[in-house]
Amino acid sequence: MKILGIETSCDETSAAVVEDGRILHSLVTATSLDLHAKYGGVVPEIAARRHIESILPVIDEALREAFVPNAEKDSTLPSPHSTLPSSHSDPWDQIDGIAVTYGAGLGGSLLVGVMTARTLAIVKNKPLYGINHVEGHVYANFITNVSSSLSTNYQLPTTAPKFPILALIVSGGHSQLVLFRDHFDYTLLGQTQDDAIGEAFDKVAKMIGLPYPGGPSVGKKALEGNPHAFDLPKAQMTSISSALTELRREKTEVRSEEEDATPPHSTLPTPHSASNASYDFSFSGLKTAALRRAQAMIGKDFTFPSKDLPAALTEAQKADIAAVFQRVAIETVVDKTIMAFEEFKPASVVIAGGVAASPELRRQLAERLPISIEYTDTKLCTDNGAMIATLGCFKALHGQPTADPYSLEIQPNLSM
Ligand code: KG4
Ligand code: ZN
Repeated sequence: MKILGIETSCDETSAAVVEDGRILHSLVTATSLDLHAKYGGVVPEIAARRHIESILPVIDEALREAFVPNAEKDSTLPSPHSTLPSSHSDPWDQIDGIAVTYGAGLGGSLLVGVMTARTLAIVKNKPLYGINHVEGHVYANFITNVSSSLSTNYQLPTTAPKFPILALIVSGGHSQLVLFRDHFDYTLLGQTQDDAIGEAFDKVAKMIGLPYPGGPSVGKKALEGNPHAFDLPKAQMTSISSALTELRREKTEVRSEEEDATPPHSTLPTPHSASNASYDFSFSGLKTAALRRAQAMIGKDFTFPSKDLPAALTEAQKADIAAVFQRVAIETVVDKTIMAFEEFKPASVVIAGGVAASPELRRQLAERLPISIEYTDTKLCTDNGAMIATLGCFKALHGQPTADPYSLEIQPNLSM
C-alpha cells in the first residue's frame, strides 16, 4: 500500500510517498519561510502564491525520489512539469491512493493542495483521502523505516507507538493533549485556550529581536542564558471539556465493573486515581509576563513599545529572557503530559508538531516520564507530506471512507 501525501496548510509545500504507514520512500519539501522571515510571521497571500509555483515540481520530485533508481536519478535532470524519464514506467502505477491535508490551515494554502489532489485523483483514477493536519502530525511517529531510494538521513524511532497512545501536539497553530485508544478513536484531553505554544515562541522571538521561526531561534539564544535567572508564571487552568468528563465517567464505570470481578474486556486505559485535572493550556499570559519582565529589565514600564526592545536590551538580557521563557513554556506542556500519563497510563507517549523538534522539550520529557520515549526526526516534526501519507496509509488499510474528488472542500478551522 503506497500513498502519495500532499501537505500545503501553511508555508511548506510538501509531498511524500509512504508504504504501509511505516516505510518512507520519499519526502520533498519546498518552503516559503525565507519570504516570510522579514515580516516576522507567515503572510498568507505570499504562502499561497508560492504553493502554486511549487506544488507540481514538488510532487514530481517526490515520485522521482521514490521510483527512479538512484543511478538514473544522477544522469537525468528533474523536469518540473512532466514526470520522470520517458524510458521509465509510470510511477502512478505504483501509487495506491492520494492523501491531502484539507484542514486546519490557511485557506489559500489549503486550496492549492486540495485542488491539486482532487485533480490528480480524477485524472489518475486513485482513491482520495482527506487528512486532518493536526491528526497527521501524530502519524509522523509511525514511520520506522526508510527505503534504500532515499539519500537523506533520518533519525527514526525503532518501533511504532502502541495504543493507547498519549500524544502531545505542539505546533505554531496547536497545543493539544490527545488520548488515542486506537486509530481513528481518540479523545481531546485539553488544548490551548489562546495562543499555541509555537506562536508564543514566535512572538517572544520577535520581541527580543530574534528571527522567525521563533522556536529554533529562541532555543539557540537560550543556550547563552540562565534558565533560572528569574521566574515567569505558569497559567493555572481549571476548564474541563465535556469529552474529558465523558471519558472519566466511562473509565469509572469500567473500573467498577472490573472490581465486580467481571473479566476485563475493554481496551480503555483505566484511570489510576480520581482526577479533576485540567489539560488545557494558556500561553498568552506567559508571553505578556516575558514582555513586562523585558521592559522592567531596562527600567521601563508597560508603556515602552515592544518594537523598541531589541535595541534596548543587552545580548545577555535577551539570552536570559529566551532561556527562562523556553524553560517555563516547555515545563507547562511537560507538566500536563506527566499528569495525563499518570491518569491514563498509556502504553506510549509521542510528541508531534513543529515544537516537537525542540531539544529542550525532548530533554525535559525523557527526564520526567517514567517510561522510555522515542522521538522522530526533526524533519518529520515540522509540516511535511510524509505524516499526511502515513495517516492516508492507515485510512486505506483500515477501510476508512474516501473523499469525493469532485467535492472535497477545505476546512480552515477543522479541529480534532
Ligand atoms: O508544525 P509546524 O511546522 O506548523 C504548524 O502546523 O504550525 O510548527 C511550526 C512551529 C513554529 O511556531 C516554530 O517556531 C516551531 O514550530 N518550531 C520549533 C522548532 N522548530 C520549529 N520550536 C521549538 N524548537 C524547534 N526546533
Ligand atoms: Zn503543523
